[in-house]
Amino acid sequence: MPDLKSMIITDKVPRHIAIIMDGNGRWAKQKGMPRVLGHRNGVKSVREVTEGAGEIGVEYLTLYAFSTENWNRPAMEIKALMGLLVDTIKSEISSLNKNNVRLMTIGDIQALPPDSYQALLDGIETTKNNTGLTLVLALNYSAKWEILRAARALAEQSASGKLRPEDIDEKVFEGALSTNGIPDPELLIRTSGETRISNFLLWQIAYTELYFTPVFWPDFDKKELFQAVVSYQRRERRFGMISEQI
Ligand code: FPP
Repeated sequence: MPDLKSMIITDKVPRHIAIIMDGNGRWAKQKGMPRVLGHRNGVKSVREVTEGAGEIGVEYLTLYAFSTENWNRPAMEIKALMGLLVDTIKSEISSLNKNNVRLMTIGDIQALPPDSYQALLDGIETTKNNTGLTLVLALNYSAKWEILRAARALAEQSASGKLRPEDIDEKVFEGALSTNGIPDPELLIRTSGETRISNFLLWQIAYTELYFTPVFWPDFDKKELFQAVVSYQRRERRFGMISEQI
């Protein structure tokens, strides 16, 4: 097996990788286990991938952990996911801190159960001065929610005379998104063989390279991450130009 890590070109590592973690339920079903065990094993992958991203010098890792649409799942599964979130943040925070990881979130986290919200605030506060990898958890997030929120905020500023409509350009609009200050992802990974975006980062992925793998999230490890980065580095990103201009 080739050493995937050594195949990565260090000065071409994506600054920002975003991941749609999918397939926990099917992974569990395949093994005759309850879905919740799929999520629990998914946490191992979160740890692996966070470590791996830090090792190769990724600056931002955004993980789609809970979408606004996920509220439609059975109450028991939602409860288990929220419990897992709190437990994981509490048990991992010292390790994140030791590894210089800064925790951030995007999404409407105030609408999460109070203990989840509190655990997130504590985690964000504890790690806020760290300068290594920024781990962005997308929680109670959807891209349409975020874009509407931005449009509303800008409309309010405009209505109150603080902002002229003609001054709303890409930069101003981006400033109103929850990813304000975070570079757009160069690479978006979705596991489990699904090839959809599912309301994730619609504005920010305008020029992002997409990588789909059949591997279920609980089986996605460092090796799989490095494989995705190698695949990304073999592509030519033209941003609408022709090869000779790059
Ligand atoms: C998708 O699998 C996964 C989720 C909706 C949740 C992901 C959550 C975790 C990995 C655990 C908690 C996260 C953190 C950051 C601590 P699915 O349930 O949609 O799988 P399926 O499509 O096979 O049913």
